[in-house]
Amino acid sequence: MIRSLKNQAALAFLIASGTLLSAHADSAGTAVAPLPKYQQECASCHLAYPAGMLPAASWTHLMGSLTKHYGTDASLDEASVREISGWLKANAGTYKRVSEAPPQDRITKSAWFLRKHRDGEVPAGVWARASVGSASNCVACHGGAAQGNFNERDIKIPK
Ligand code: HEC
Ligand code: HEC
Repeated sequence: MIRSLKNQAALAFLIASGTLLSAHADSAGTAVAPLPKYQQECASCHLAYPAGMLPAASWTHLMGSLTKHYGTDASLDEASVREISGWLKANAGTYKRVSEAPPQDRITKSAWFLRKHRDGEVPAGVWARASVGSASNCVACHGGAAQGNFNERDIKIPK
């Protein structure tokens, strides 16, 4: 009972934050069509992070500073920037927990992220493992992350 209530709350959050809505694998038929350009240009160094996990303000800032992108140059031609930026903003998170821009426009610095991944859930030493590398590397533990699946049941922490 408690378990199912907890899952329902998590599901409500995921739907509201756009995780499921932006997932192509969602079977409910409510999925936002993924933008091919976004997959093409923003998934070469890491996952194409779900648009719903950051507010529009963060996406605007990120897309306006691609030459200085977390220590690397991720710049694109103007037309691509416009297309991707427009799509990210249209599908950005609006739910309460995602509405405020996190430090450095990082999903991994959002309050909800830190709560979900706190010490009791992910032991501190795990983040430094070579198999993980960084908290930004969602796929290391969420095997279905590229399909928008962050479900608790499908998490596997690598050794
Ligand atoms: C040349 C490689 C590269 C490309 C291309 C790239 N990124 Fe990144 N991105 C990075 C690196 C490196 C980080 C920092 C990862 C870390 O801290 O481990 C990052 C981090 C991020 C984060 C923050 C993740 C977190 O910690 O929450 C977001 C959001 C992001 N990128 C969005 C984008 C978007 C949108 C695009 C396409 C316009 C893009 N990236 C293209 C290299 C890249
Ligand atoms: C080192 C492994 C690891 C990495 C890397 C990781 N996570 Fe997680 N994540 C977990 C674990 C473990 C949980 C389960 C916490 C719990 O049981 O409440 C979780 C929970 C979540 C949840 C909540 C799922 C639910 O059903 O309540 C979301 C959403 C999520 N992670 C997103 C992300 C995103 C986005 C990234 C990358 C930016 C990421 N995670 C990176 C291990 C990881």
